[in-house]
Amino acid sequence: MSTQSHRHHGHTIDDDRLDRVLSLELARVTERAAVAAARLRGRGDEKAADQAAVNAMRAELNNLSIDGTVVIGEGERDEAPMLYIGEKVGNGKGPKVDIALDPLEGTTICAKNLPNSIAVIALAHEGALLYAPDVYMDKIAIGPGYPMGLIDLDAPPAENIQALANAKMVPISEVTACILDRPRHARLIEEVRATGCAIRLIGDGDVAGVIHTTEPADTGIDIYLGSGGAPEGVLAAAALRCTGGQMQGRLILDSREKVERAAKMGITDPRRKYTHEDMARGDVLFAATGVTDGNMLQGVKFGRNRIVTHTIVMRSSSKTVRWIRAAHTDPEKFDPE
Ligand code: FBP
Repeated sequence: MSTQSHRHHGHTIDDDRLDRVLSLELARVTERAAVAAARLRGRGDEKAADQAAVNAMRAELNNLSIDGTVVIGEGERDEAPMLYIGEKVGNGKGPKVDIALDPLEGTTICAKNLPNSIAVIALAHEGALLYAPDVYMDKIAIGPGYPMGLIDLDAPPAENIQALANAKMVPISEVTACILDRPRHARLIEEVRATGCAIRLIGDGDVAGVIHTTEPADTGIDIYLGSGGAPEGVLAAAALRCTGGQMQGRLILDSREKVERAAKMGITDPRRKYTHEDMARGDVLFAATGVTDGNMLQGVKFGRNRIVTHTIVMRSSSKTVRWIRAAHTDPEKFDPE
């Protein structure tokens, strides 16, 4: 939290919003992770690409003036050497913040050089992000411009799709749902197809899948349905807090071990239905950089001497969405002559 008062348009404001400059700084963090991962695009090596992104993101994150704690990260401390849950990041000199990150969201997509892998990060005040265990989460999301509660995780998919079509004033045949292509979704896919709605089946990358609902005219996606990672759910919720739109999620805690693991992270009601506002509260900053070309973000381009990145940076308090196309000098090629 920024504790300073500062002059702004002639008014003194006690600014407890996350610093405005910080949101731009976040772009640098995802840019660097994306470039590192992109150098290993299409090499069939998920692990190497992920590791490169992790190293790069961590190095850049530690330049930030924040007293940060990773709450959604690469895994538990014993399984992830870097950017694990609980790791302190930043130079320790700024606001106390919680961080959700995925240096390479869609490792397989990157390894295969398919669309929509991204480097992604969200930042909020301490305690404002859901500490989600690494289990599945049932999710539903739509973009902005619809009344809250139009869709409901507990309603049948056909009902949600009909409600959306009515609100959008189009026939169901003009609605597209995005669903992860998984055997566990066979029944969901069947039910959605029975409505006449189109499905975009994605191989991976449901953070992008959810975000795509916020720009249906560009992405062609109106609604996201199905289960994916819970940590990814929190990242997507943070994005939706900034863009508008609505999301609901429920952890899938289908064993005693998972219920206990969640309880250790402070989750007392294992059946709770979370809204995007429950998952990412207060002032939220979000940034994502394209690694491979995607429906919303272009991937990293390596030119002769320059590297070009495409990043989206957003703040919940102002609802500003910035698209940043940045040309970087390639440190591996730069010749000062
Ligand atoms: P990774 O980047 O860790 O490979 O995750 C990709 C992803 O597709 C997520 O976007 C999604 O939430 C999750 O995996 C789905 O899990 P699963 O592959 O087990 O269905």
